[in-house]
Amino acid sequence: MGNLTFAIIKPDAVKNNYTGLIYDRILKAGFNILSAKLTRMSLAQAEGFYSVHKGKPFYNELTEFMSSGQAMVLALRKENAVAEWRKTIGATNPADADSGTIRKDFATSLGENAVHGSDSDDNAIKEIAFFFSDCELISNN
Ligand code: CMP
Repeated sequence: MGNLTFAIIKPDAVKNNYTGLIYDRILKAGFNILSAKLTRMSLAQAEGFYSVHKGKPFYNELTEFMSSGQAMVLALRKENAVAEWRKTIGATNPADADSGTIRKDFATSLGENAVHGSDSDDNAIKEIAFFFSDCELISNN
């Protein structure tokens, strides 16, 4: 069980000015933010990041949406980070998300679901490396 995960505050949430509110949820849930940056993915970057979903019916919509505007990418640390972050954000479809979760409170649809979270320790490492170099991962303690 690893202590790193990767998160994205997606273009819908940035556009709706939820970045600060979601940042607050991350800190209140006890995550240490090792790195964060505001970026706008190119279509090619979004296709690379979500290559595991290539061929699925929602792939084009997903990659177009993820490259449609600013997003904040974050490397997070906490004990059992992958499971803890998934618990904090709630189910992929906000209609199924528990109350008090980020997706319940800030997402609008399955496609525009406010945030991303890694689904395994291996993918967390890969996803962090997709956006951050080692020297950008800074610990305060
Ligand atoms: P995310 O956690 O970023 O991982 C893949 C994304 O694809 C997911 O969140 C959803 O926003 C999006 N998506 C769109 N349609 C579907 C679907 N039918 N099943 C799963 N994910 C979907």
